[in-house]
Amino acid sequence: MFFPFNLYQFFNDPKDYLLQLQIKHGDPFPLAFPGATTIWLTGKPELAKAIFTAPIDSFKASEKNPVGALLGPEGLIMQSGKDHLKSRKEFTPYFSKSNLSPMSESIIDAFNELINPLEVAGKLDLQKISLDLSLKIILKFLFPHLNSEELKRAELETQKFLASYSASLLFIPQWVPGTWNIFNKNKGDLDELFYNHFLVGTKEAIHNPLSALVDKSKDYVLDQMRTMIVAGHETSATSLCWSLHYIYKDQYLLNRLREELQECSINNILQNPFLEAVVNESMRIHPPVPFITRKIINRPFFLGDKKFQIDDEIGVCLSLLHRESLVWENAQAFIPERFLTKKYSPFEFAPFGGGARRCIGAEFSHLELKVLIAQFIKTFNGELKDINDPRSRVMQITIGPKSAVDLFYKKIN
Ligand code: HEM
Repeated sequence: MFFPFNLYQFFNDPKDYLLQLQIKHGDPFPLAFPGATTIWLTGKPELAKAIFTAPIDSFKASEKNPVGALLGPEGLIMQSGKDHLKSRKEFTPYFSKSNLSPMSESIIDAFNELINPLEVAGKLDLQKISLDLSLKIILKFLFPHLNSEELKRAELETQKFLASYSASLLFIPQWVPGTWNIFNKNKGDLDELFYNHFLVGTKEAIHNPLSALVDKSKDYVLDQMRTMIVAGHETSATSLCWSLHYIYKDQYLLNRLREELQECSINNILQNPFLEAVVNESMRIHPPVPFITRKIINRPFFLGDKKFQIDDEIGVCLSLLHRESLVWENAQAFIPERFLTKKYSPFEFAPFGGGARRCIGAEFSHLELKVLIAQFIKTFNGELKDINDPRSRVMQITIGPKSAVDLFYKKIN
């Protein structure tokens, strides 16, 4: 069977395109990439549960991950089986609450470094500032020993590397000169700088996941390092931008959060249920990663009564899961209170995926988002240039706002 994949429609409005596919084909439905595998996606909680709770040997990672070129085959996202399990075991302790708690201070430092130089009033591009903040923060997490000059260099080299990649490269064969050459050159420059200069010293920086890698091969170290940077950067930035969009578009929400977080210590900020609900509701409506995939191995797999064979690819469409009408009343509306009155299962609400591959950085990003939102509302009064919800677009690895999210701000003394 052939299902034409309309690239233009996908890139133009991915969330709507996925919804149209589900309406047209039912659930699960096929998402077919030209010249590549068809992925069968579901937006139904009971089928998401089947995928997230399947025995660990049911699946491997998809080799055709659209960001595979950025990550490398030995990074956590691309690993499978025993290798994946081993790496997960090594990294997990670094992402525990207690290990992460010193990060709050680095996050506030990053905020101050970028925000203090701003004028007392003006226009702030929330997408750009979110990307700048999250890059600084993930690099501070991975390389806590760098001084500010080194950190600046690390930021610039990473931005150059990321800017030379776009999803459209996937449709250009590697042998075509031009864009791939630029990407490979920038990747080489990044690897060289980080491996020969910045990774030295990570062993002493004990709170950092890269210190688990000191005796590993060069390719392994670099693939894991790029994986953490790529997975932890745009995802957090997109979530932050969407949350700020909802907060500044609604003065009631802004004031309520201000009241809730008044004179709150970091611990109270992290545990505040309303702030948590705002972050969750924003990720429900706009999960930065629109779908997760798995490749079937060892034995056929059923999604409902549909049987899939070995080597087929299946997955969960998070943006559809999060608007399933049987679970979410008034699913299009931003209603953080729903998270205060009901507990949703990990098969109904899954912005970080699920099962053995659930995002290892989920705790990290909650910490980052909450601390940054608290800083924003403490520092800025403001109004959005446009309060309408922007449509979505494919960014580098996430789905983000299609148009600029500009805040006309005034700093609070
Ligand atoms: C709001 C921010 C974030 C979102 C929405 C997000 C979302 C996701 C999703 C959906 C997956 C795939 C899970 C699956 O296949 O079931 C994933 C995997 C992953 N994420 Fe995140 N992520 C975020 C932040 C981070 C951060 C900050 C880091 C690192 C510091 C990180 C590192 C990873 C890694 C390494 C994986 C691969 C896990 C594995 O395959 O075992 N992520 N993330």
